[in-house]
Amino acid sequence: MAARSVFSAGLFRDKVAIVTGGGTGIGKAIASELLGLGCNVVIASRKLDRLKETAENLVTQISPANPNRVTALKCNIRKEEEVESMVKTTLNIYNRIDFLINNGGGQFPSPSEEISAKGWNAVVETNLTGTFYCCKAVYNAWMKEHGGAIVNIIADMWKGFPGMAHTGAARAAVDNLTKSLAIEWAHTGVRINSVCPISPMVCFLLSPAASFITGETIKVDAGQSLYHSPWTVPDHDRWPEAPDGENARALKKMMANVPPSKL
Ligand code: ADE
Repeated sequence: MAARSVFSAGLFRDKVAIVTGGGTGIGKAIASELLGLGCNVVIASRKLDRLKETAENLVTQISPANPNRVTALKCNIRKEEEVESMVKTTLNIYNRIDFLINNGGGQFPSPSEEISAKGWNAVVETNLTGTFYCCKAVYNAWMKEHGGAIVNIIADMWKGFPGMAHTGAARAAVDNLTKSLAIEWAHTGVRINSVCPISPMVCFLLSPAASFITGETIKVDAGQSLYHSPWTVPDHDRWPEAPDGENARALKKMMANVPPSKL
């Protein structure tokens, strides 16, 4: 059986979705849920062997009565010509593209001062530029004429992303790109939103239940970003000069998250 879904079977009957980075992890989970809801799914990434394995695995999850198909297409989203070719092949096979889920991405942990130009560019090109190429290609080749829905998978970077500044910057840029494209493409019936992350929210945003939602970023984090900061600043002695010692002490406690009542 495909992944269980809170949405009704057949919600996306005969629709076609492209899921980048669909070979593993959340991309695979999204592909599985879409498939279970009646959607044909193209999974695209750089590693064709793994994609094919995933496609075979996903097919075994759907009942033989389910006519949907999964197609694995090799595509490096950093290369615009490969993205255009992947979109063209999808149209040749399925004759339509209703949904694009930009999930392909990658990063590596590193202190910012040690990120090389090559590493920085690779992360920005995959997470930001690749997302842009995919949006642009599906829009020009199909959605401009027929409408559609796009969901970008981003990350919890609302308070910065120390240790992975490249991906934080790129994902924040995708959040902004989402808003720009939502406005530019609204008149063609294309909606575009972002999610950080989880697959039922993606299905909701693709569905008619979200037909009035565009340019939005949905945080699926149980409210954590409202009350919790994952980051702490290590203890140090480089505090700014304060006019008197009292103020400096209070400031230090405040920065250490001491509640105002205990200052
Ligand atoms: N997933 C991670 N990196 C990717 C890339 N460059 N192209 C497609 N999918 C990816």
